[in-house]
Amino acid sequence: MTKKRKQPVRGLEGVVAAETFLSHVDGANGKLYYRGYDIDQLAGRACYEEIVYLLWFGELPDAEQLDSFRAELVAEMRLPEQVSELLRLSPPNANPMVVLRTAVSALGMFDPDGGKNTEQANLRKAKRILAQVATIVTSLYRMRSGQSTVSADKDMGFAENFLYMLSGKTPRKIEREVFDTTLLLHADHGLAASTFAARTTVSTLAGMHSAISSALASLKGPLHGGANRKVMEMLEEIGDADRVAPYIEGMLGTGQRIMGFGHRMYKTEDPRSRHLRKFSNKLCSRAGCDQLYEISQKIEALVLERKGINPNVDFYSATVQSALGIPKEYYTCIFAVARTAGWIAHVMEQFHDNRLIRPSSTYMGGFDRKFVPLAKRSAPAGAS
Ligand code: COA
Repeated sequence: MTKKRKQPVRGLEGVVAAETFLSHVDGANGKLYYRGYDIDQLAGRACYEEIVYLLWFGELPDAEQLDSFRAELVAEMRLPEQVSELLRLSPPNANPMVVLRTAVSALGMFDPDGGKNTEQANLRKAKRILAQVATIVTSLYRMRSGQSTVSADKDMGFAENFLYMLSGKTPRKIEREVFDTTLLLHADHGLAASTFAARTTVSTLAGMHSAISSALASLKGPLHGGANRKVMEMLEEIGDADRVAPYIEGMLGTGQRIMGFGHRMYKTEDPRSRHLRKFSNKLCSRAGCDQLYEISQKIEALVLERKGINPNVDFYSATVQSALGIPKEYYTCIFAVARTAGWIAHVMEQFHDNRLIRPSSTYMGGFDRKFVPLAKRSAPAGAS
């Protein structure tokens, strides 16, 4: 009698792999909650540091707590010289996400709490990693564009400092506000692939730097955070609103995916994309790139009509970042800067109540094969 095999769930769709208090994706109703707060309530009313605090400590900070938390983060926006040197030595055409992943892994070697996983050590590492991820991205950009790096300004917040360290200029109010909310909207998202990678890594009791390196490796792929860069490549290739229909029809007709569309969890509009669409519209017209917004709108209408699929967070974040003057090679890094807050919160939650994450697989191969010693093996027909 043959034993009935357990069928794996492809892509683990619908499988519950963790309990979390951090965020909830209500895919049926197009809602996202951070610790019980609907993001529609938070966007534009709270700043990114408040959300980081909320995710890490469970409550929104009061004014005094926010000031000191912000000051602590900004004070950590600097890199060990060896890691700055590593950035300088990276090949100029290496994907910035590869450099970021490598640099975070290297940071683990220089962190004073490197080998410690106590709650206090993890909290110190959390602040350092979040601040240093931002500094790696801005430093890499400036080094590659032949400019000297810019140190954080203690009188600016996290988002403002990021734009300042990137461009060397104090950002305008609208830029600061839009970027701050963009970070807020990307801060956490249930058990996304990168978050699951982080939790799985830390479930072995590997440290926080290992977990964030795993998460960065996972985020890089175009089916996850790498999609925003691909969106901009598509918009540039299309180039003109009149070319949207033939381009998109051509892609759909050949079974290709449209980057920035579709989501495993959302069966309706992604609430983050609603906010980003608004920002894209506002910023593109100020920055004189209305054409990109117009192309985006046409793509959105056509994909919805033809496939019934909505844009996800990556679609309009591409034009928002473009209008902020961020080069497309860095879009996924910006996602990473924001999501590091969520990854860290999940890492701390996993540590708090850990059990090794170790699922099973259904073995599809044979049994009872007879071992043939090397000297007696001949290559199977067709093998070279
Ligand atoms: N363009 C065209 N068709 C898409 C699509 C897209 N972006 N996303 C999903 N679909 C279609 C699939 O072809 C499939 O159609 P079928 O049932 O006729 O074969 C159906 O929708 C379900 O897709 P599936 O691959 O099972 O969904 P998933 O949950 O495994 O994938 C994503 C989710 C995000 C990987 C997928 O939507 C995608 O590849 N999107 C583009 C990349 C992207 O923007 N990623 C960022 C996510 S935040």
